[in-house]
Amino acid sequence: GPDFDRCLAAARALLVVDSGDRPLVPGYQRVLKDGLPRRRAGGPKSVLVVGAGPAGLVTAWLLKRAGHRVTVLEANGNRAGGRIKTFRRGGHEKAAQPFADPRQYAEAGAMRLPGSHPLVMDLIGQLGLKKRPFYYVDVDADGRPASHTWIHVNGIRVRRADYARAPRRVNRSFGVPRAHWDTPAAAILRSVLDPVRDEFSTVGPDGKRVDKPLPERVRGWARVIQRFGDWSMFRFLTEHAGLDERTVDLIGTVENLTSRLPLSFVHSFIGSSLISPDTAFWELEGGTAVLPDALLAKVRDTVRFDRRVTRIEYYDPGRAGGDTAHVHAKGPHVWVDTVSEGRGGPVVREQFTADAAVVTVPFSGLRHVQISPLMSYTKRRAITELHYDCATKVLLEFSRRWWEFDEADWKRELNRIDPGLYDAYRTGRTPGDGRLLGAHPSVPRGHITPGQRVHYAANRAVARDQPEAAHVIGGGSVSDNANRFMYHPSHPVPGSAGGVVLASYSWADDALRWDSLDEDARYPHALCGLQEVYGQRIEVFYTGAGRTQSWLRDPYAYGEASVLLPGQHTELLPSIPVPEGPLHFAGDHTSVKPAWIEGALESAVRAALEVHTA
Ligand code: FAD
Ligand code: ARG
Repeated sequence: GPDFDRCLAAARALLVVDSGDRPLVPGYQRVLKDGLPRRRAGGPKSVLVVGAGPAGLVTAWLLKRAGHRVTVLEANGNRAGGRIKTFRRGGHEKAAQPFADPRQYAEAGAMRLPGSHPLVMDLIGQLGLKKRPFYYVDVDADGRPASHTWIHVNGIRVRRADYARAPRRVNRSFGVPRAHWDTPAAAILRSVLDPVRDEFSTVGPDGKRVDKPLPERVRGWARVIQRFGDWSMFRFLTEHAGLDERTVDLIGTVENLTSRLPLSFVHSFIGSSLISPDTAFWELEGGTAVLPDALLAKVRDTVRFDRRVTRIEYYDPGRAGGDTAHVHAKGPHVWVDTVSEGRGGPVVREQFTADAAVVTVPFSGLRHVQISPLMSYTKRRAITELHYDCATKVLLEFSRRWWEFDEADWKRELNRIDPGLYDAYRTGRTPGDGRLLGAHPSVPRGHITPGQRVHYAANRAVARDQPEAAHVIGGGSVSDNANRFMYHPSHPVPGSAGGVVLASYSWADDALRWDSLDEDARYPHALCGLQEVYGQRIEVFYTGAGRTQSWLRDPYAYGEASVLLPGQHTELLPSIPVPEGPLHFAGDHTSVKPAWIEGALESAVRAALEVHTA
């Protein structure tokens, strides 16, 4: 494994402690609340912040509050928020409404906020935003965890709670050895990960894990990184845990690890510990975009939209070379060139100068930005090599929240279309030509195009077995079909009987399967995948309105997030947040919480402090 000092450094970054193992987050929380500390010397600085995602907006807000002259340059012409993006009426798609019901909205990116993320929780409170539970596990009508959603694999469909009680049928369908017949996938995974967790936590008297105190926790994580930092999840599960490939298939399919088996063990280990039924998640009323909305309101006068930074020059006396005609010892120390994308107007270029800059562009995107003089070797390698994952979502709107139905609801609603239709679905005697698509009277006309109908009929799933009503609130199902992970909304949209289902949320190779399809082709496929799990009859409520987002194909995101390859936590991570002269770096990729808003906020406070005190 890597040198222990590097592992210690990676562990400190991961735990957000300083070199003396003192936690940094309480100080960050104070800065977020009370502003940057008073400076002892020096006047206000001019600062360019590149990118108006959560990292850029918070950086700008903090610096502005401290009296600095801030300009935020955002490539996107129609919105702030970056990978926080809500499809909603009056949002970025100004004229259009995304769904048939104008009240409906849904998340293209961030949707769930762990209660264990202190900066996000504080910020929500500070901005006066309303949060409510996000149900990772479906609940019953009284709000109690139910686990009645489906696991649908190898042609078998079983409710999660039933699987947890009697996993044998599903497990055997993967061909796992007898020793694993009667243990649910989550428990097998836990049993192989727990010895790793023992390095930095202990099991308390109530059976819950408690972190070891600092600094032992740092050393424990450093040992984990030294032992497994260069490993993939696949290597860990097979070589270290000794699992056979069928058991790896089972865990991978049910616990969402398959597509990321070749990626870093450390990332998936942290990720699967957090995205679990043990985590209390929150969501924001009105959609996650209300967070960037509120941040933008604080700094609106500083933000220039439709300004894509294409070139950066900086002055660093320690470094020469390159084309740096625009920066000088006396200032300016930073110069950037930008281009507009000219939506509805001419393409224009505009240049900006400042004393310092905070660059929040994901490193996948910085690959296309010219920076002079050459930055340090390690920074350039990080920009070249940092691995970005992909993520794709397909959202489908329904005029009724059928996943909340019981059988009586189904019978009543289907027979409203045609007496006898309920039984026809139960016995698989309905026409398969798409005639019943959107057939319920609650479906507003005009959203299902003739083309969609043909595609739907052509791609229709042939499975005709009708499972029982899901009858759940929130949560979601897992399938080995292309949809992989499905999520129901946790709360109704006031005034609407319908809802938008996240019909598919996938990562890595699972996501690429969708990215190969045109956006319009994704909807009928996603509906069919949903039908394989919930039955044919959901078709009657489909409104014909869907939205989809591939983050790999997004011209402003350049990928989902920096999900690292084996070894990158020690090889690349240390150099990512380090300033290069007057250039500072923020964004979730500069933290050890990629793909989490918390990581973006940590980085914003750190970068604002750097600029402020430099
Ligand atoms: P971004 O949000 O990516 O912001 C970067 C900004 O820079 C963008 O506005 C972009 O347009 C702009 N930009 C890019 N290039 C240039 C350029 N050359 N010039 C000028 N501007 C530029 N987090 C959670 O906490 N909970 C979740 O449930 C969650 N789910 C997610 C699901 C998906 C599918 C994805 C993709 C992300 C999810 N996240 C989630 C992660 C969260 O959205 C990110 O961590 C967060 O948005 C990162 O903020 P950032 O400011 O670092 O980067
Ligand atoms: N934060 C995102 C979510 O809640 C994704 C995190 C992990 N992404 C990944 N490719 N492993 O879904």
